[in-house]
Amino acid sequence: MCGIVGYIGEKEALPILINGLKALEYRGYDSAGVAVFSKNGIREKKTVGQVEVLEKAVGDDVDFKGNLGIAHTRWATHGAPSEANAHPHSDCSRRVFLVHNGIIENYKELKNYLSERGHIFKSETDTESVAHLIEDFLEEGKDFKTALIDTLKMIRGAYALAIADAKNPEILYAAKLSSPLVIGVGKDENFLASDPSAVIGNTRDFIYLKDGELAEITRDKINISNLEKQPTPIEIVRLEWNLEQAQKGDFPHFMLKEIFEGPEIVRFAFRGRIISKENRVMLGGLEQVSDKIKKIKRLIILACGTSYYAGLVGEYLFEEIAKLPTEVHFASEFRYREEPFDEGTAVLAISQSGETADTLAALRKAKEKGLLTLGIVNTVGSTIARETNAGVYNHAGPEIGVASTKAFLSQITILVLMAIYLSKSNDKDSLTESLLKELEKIPEKIEKILLQAPAIEKLALKYKDCGNFLFIGRRYNYPTALEGALKLKEVSYIHAEGYGAGEMKHGPLAMISPDFPTMAIVPQNGVSEKIYSNLEEIKARKGPILAIATEGDKKISSLANDVIYIPKTIEPLEPLLTVVPLQLFAYYAGVNRGFNVDKPRNLAKSVTVE
Ligand code: G6P
Repeated sequence: MCGIVGYIGEKEALPILINGLKALEYRGYDSAGVAVFSKNGIREKKTVGQVEVLEKAVGDDVDFKGNLGIAHTRWATHGAPSEANAHPHSDCSRRVFLVHNGIIENYKELKNYLSERGHIFKSETDTESVAHLIEDFLEEGKDFKTALIDTLKMIRGAYALAIADAKNPEILYAAKLSSPLVIGVGKDENFLASDPSAVIGNTRDFIYLKDGELAEITRDKINISNLEKQPTPIEIVRLEWNLEQAQKGDFPHFMLKEIFEGPEIVRFAFRGRIISKENRVMLGGLEQVSDKIKKIKRLIILACGTSYYAGLVGEYLFEEIAKLPTEVHFASEFRYREEPFDEGTAVLAISQSGETADTLAALRKAKEKGLLTLGIVNTVGSTIARETNAGVYNHAGPEIGVASTKAFLSQITILVLMAIYLSKSNDKDSLTESLLKELEKIPEKIEKILLQAPAIEKLALKYKDCGNFLFIGRRYNYPTALEGALKLKEVSYIHAEGYGAGEMKHGPLAMISPDFPTMAIVPQNGVSEKIYSNLEEIKARKGPILAIATEGDKKISSLANDVIYIPKTIEPLEPLLTVVPLQLFAYYAGVNRGFNVDKPRNLAKSVTVE
């Protein structure tokens, strides 16, 4: 969604804001805007298109100077992408300037009310009403902070707001409800951003603003209070990421860089968590609720997108390893279900960003019902991480490519560890031992698959012009098939569907023809024979087959037109290997079809609206 950057300090705000916006472009990018403030006045610019357009537009303006500034990348929700609708928005007197991420649900009412009171609106956005409302309270004689608080009390919906008072360019205001906003803490300078990657080159210390909080930020002070003007505690989190992790390095795209980070990401996820000698797993984040965990009788996994597919793998893992009845729900559906919960039901929210609005809302519903809430979250200090009772961090570093890749590997690794942690079975030893031993070998096996990237690119070139693709798999690789299809859709815009291979006869077989290829995920395991039969049926209908199979599989070459071989592993860990060629295939298909794979059209990395 939209991205926010703010700066106050001794330096020129403009370059910091533009760099921050570039880092946030993945959140939304149909238009952008920036405003800087100094004693000499305001400089403001808004442009349609990517941040480079804005950068060029302000590049030659020597007067674009000021030590306080706010900036924004917009992903249109109310009103088309246009200069008028781009942020910052201001009031009639051009005193109040603000940028906003979220949705003001009662903006129509506010707009009518304010229009009647003489306010003239310049945009079609919901955001502009907030600037006018602050102005309206200022006109009543209130000071800026009070006018802002009264406004926040009147607006409904979701917001992360960075606000400047042009009359007083010594202070930057920030407020948040349901949309993410962090304060980067520096020396004689402070930053605001939708997420730390925007300013990680300047500081590693962050304050995650909480819902209902208002921050007053000067160059050397940060005051945070609630809307009753009472101070709230400030916690500074030090992030271990560095700038390099948030940049592309030598890779042409973040997506490729992140796929190639796979081996390291799996290591980061299990490092320090496997106690090999004792054949057990230690998950520090769950220790505080270990007694409650022992009583879990049913687990509900809640997630969206790729995290949801990781959750589906989790379902197989929890049932097989922990013998725990598990179900997975799209967070957006769970919110509206009225199912009864027995005592002993716990929920597990999986989210890379920790900010996905639907996952958060589903989690809050579970909390209201009094359920134990656990999380697997990548972004430290994010809202979902804070709102769950306990959880495990991925430590996967920032994921910038909109289509999630490395987070999926990391989530599955943690799900394996969590399933072992939750296991109550007495005969767990042999399974646990083989899982833990094999997990440590997975990074090397992924490296071997990555070496085949050039061959996978050739296959992507061969198939890139097909209008449709079917992905099939069984058991642990059924979710992988769904994820492979999602990846291809997201970055290459080829229509793709994932199916359980056993369902072929119940519909998908009707679509098979010489120009309708199937990607079969068929590593050698207990169900491979069954998939071979499904492949025979596809072959008989002259459907091209591309297979992901285990090294040494003799049979597959007689069935498939093309094969990508992967190393052997045990079945519960297969998705960690089988998904990698699917990610590469989608990446190369997208790039060779000429698309911007890091920022697919119409999609956003962090979906902070419902
Ligand atoms: C968006 C992203 C996906 C991601 C999904 C869930 O749709 O484009 O890549 O899987 O959100 O995000 P989360 O941050 O909750 O894992």
